[in-house]
Amino acid sequence: MIEYEKLEDSIVGFYKNEVTVKHLAESVEYSLKAGGKRIRPILFLAILEGFGLELKLAHYNVAAAIEWIHTGSLIHDDLPAMDNDDYRRGKLTNHKVYGEALAVLSGDALFLDPYYFIATSGFPSVMIVNLIRELSASSGSLGMVAGQVIDMDSEGKKVPLDFLKKLHQLKTGRMLTFPFVAAGIIAGKEVDKLRKIGVTLGLAFQIRDDILDVTADFESIGKTPGKDILEEKLTYVSLLGLEEARQELQKNLEEVKVGLSSLKSFNPTEVLKIVEQLEL
Ligand code: IPE
Ligand code: IPE
Ligand code: MG
Ligand code: MG
Ligand code: MG
Repeated sequence: MIEYEKLEDSIVGFYKNEVTVKHLAESVEYSLKAGGKRIRPILFLAILEGFGLELKLAHYNVAAAIEWIHTGSLIHDDLPAMDNDDYRRGKLTNHKVYGEALAVLSGDALFLDPYYFIATSGFPSVMIVNLIRELSASSGSLGMVAGQVIDMDSEGKKVPLDFLKKLHQLKTGRMLTFPFVAAGIIAGKEVDKLRKIGVTLGLAFQIRDDILDVTADFESIGKTPGKDILEEKLTYVSLLGLEEARQELQKNLEEVKVGLSSLKSFNPTEVLKIVEQLEL
């Protein structure tokens, strides 16, 4: 069973107890505690359990590291120079409360602290190197950051669907693939197969986010809806329309379910529940 309090302790404990620069810790904690869904760390822990592992503190710490990078990416994504958003997770965005300079530095901290946390997790050295390689490739210039740059460059453009798919797989997909790959590395299981499932789930997740931007209200998503249209973002909805975007979401989620059910020595029940919650 995933202990959610333990996960929250791992996510905020380091900033509460070890970071001594008070306003840095406060700014980071503000964004971490604002109420994200925690889907990436929960997926990671659920996959480990699906392989029959008993969850230990080191697992919760890797889970926290995933949420840190994700939260850092949101703080930077919301900056005036990027998506210029005022609300995130139902609260004012980090830069609205702490100013742009501290928001940039809080994001920097959330991008870099994971490597300290994972390096000191107590896992065998080879496993640590593998986790760190994958986390960097998922978040940096080979992953999320590259996607964010392409996202900025693509505003107002019409492109082939394959290009948009690639963009979504980078900016969002890679950080949702990491939980699958990391769980595979730790459990010593089928990493290639897990990676493939993660890529598909990551794409589905951003298609869903594109759909929610036009269909959901502030209360349910905790951020200002309709922003993608305003900023002329390249999304599945802008390229394909709402109905086809929904079909793409469903198609990808079905593919994920098939993939999960085909893993060996794996009980997919809990992970399938998470995937089913993404259906719209
Ligand atoms: C939002 O991610 C940004 C995207 C990558 C689509 P989430 O929808 O997981 O945001 P939180 O963590 O729940 O706030
Ligand atoms: C953000 O995509 C992906 C990140 C890497 C943060 P969006 O810009 O669509 O995310 P939201 O809609 O602001 O959460
Ligand atoms: Mg963005
Ligand atoms: Mg945004
Ligand atoms: Mg969005």
